[in-house]
Amino acid sequence: MALSFYVFHLFYKFKVLVLVTLCLMVLWATVNYYVDSRQEIPKAKSMVEDFRKVTSLERSQKQEKMESVAVPTVKSLQDECPALSPYLIGASKLTFKASLTLEEVQKENPQVAKGRYHPPECSAQHHVAIIIPHRNREKHLLYLLEHLHPFLQRQQLDYGIYVIHQAGSTKFNRAKLLNVGYLEALKEANWDCFIFHDVDLVPENDFNIYTCGPGPKHFVVGRNNTGYRLRYKGYFGGVTALTRDQFAKVNGFSNNYWGWGGEDDDLRIRVHLQKMGVMRPPAEVARYTMIFHKRDHGNEENEERMKLLSQVSKTWKTDGLNSCSYKLLSVERNPLYINITVDFSAQPKVS
Ligand SMILES: *[C@@H]1O[C@H](CO)[C@@H](O)[C@H](O)[C@H]1NC(C)=O
Ligand SMILES: *[C@@H]1O[C@H](CO)[C@@H](O)[C@H](O)[C@H]1NC(C)=O
Repeated sequence: MALSFYVFHLFYKFKVLVLVTLCLMVLWATVNYYVDSRQEIPKAKSMVEDFRKVTSLERSQKQEKMESVAVPTVKSLQDECPALSPYLIGASKLTFKASLTLEEVQKENPQVAKGRYHPPECSAQHHVAIIIPHRNREKHLLYLLEHLHPFLQRQQLDYGIYVIHQAGSTKFNRAKLLNVGYLEALKEANWDCFIFHDVDLVPENDFNIYTCGPGPKHFVVGRNNTGYRLRYKGYFGGVTALTRDQFAKVNGFSNNYWGWGGEDDDLRIRVHLQKMGVMRPPAEVARYTMIFHKRDHGNEENEERMKLLSQVSKTWKTDGLNSCSYKLLSVERNPLYINITVDFSAQPKVS
């Protein structure tokens, strides 16, 4: 009796031992699994990096062959530019010299060619097309180019400046010119961000970074002629930035705003209809100087803008990028900007 109890007790002890061992093994396996998978993430990341390096190298080699330009191969092996450029200087006092010439501005910007620039020291993180609607504002354009080129270079952006020039005597159509700029710039390069920029607004602080965000951006929080306050709540004019996809999603601007006013509010309504929120940089940096001018002949106030604005939710799908027709007269690649000249006179004046 005592013996059999002893045997039973021994057997029981053995069973407990086996169970404990099993538990420990399971625990060990689990811990190991998590440690492994934690190590997998950086491993996968570096694999993706390697893959990107290889593909970008391939791409640049292909490009080199196609264009047969002597692009140094080291470029593709360059590191990405830092998140914040080391060349930013902050607020600068802007001056506008009456005797300034295009040649002087060209001399100041030797690295800009055919309106385009990319930082030579690193691989730019942002590919930005600046679109400037234009007519009869050569002097303002000159001042803007003078300040914008060094400003964008200090931000280490890969950029191109497109001036969309409206020929003919039809009323000025800022929004349609901006649609043209988007469509034409994409024919030339795969820009991922578009800055729609008035010709008479000069940025004062290079911490106002010209890149796109997760939502459409509005840069003109303040300007010298409004005491550096937002013109009105919801103001979305002057200088805005939308990614290629954000702009496509709202079908671009309306083509139907002839003359001054309304088209920027129309875009804001399109953005809201897509449930996108507008972002603004801090007021301390989003400051502009507006170069003084009288309202141009051919850009009189648009009397129909309130009526148009009340119908955006019904019209946006059929009036925009997908209905933007124009006559392309010329594309001239000047040293400091690409001049795209269009004629809208064949367009019916829709009311
Ligand atoms: C804004 O600055 C520009 C350029 O210095 C100047 O011509 C204009 O008069 C200024 N506007 C106001 C309201 O101060
Ligand atoms: C753009 O090109 C057109 C056609 O050659 C020309 O008339 C116009 O003056 C140019 N505009 C600018 C700002 O260079």
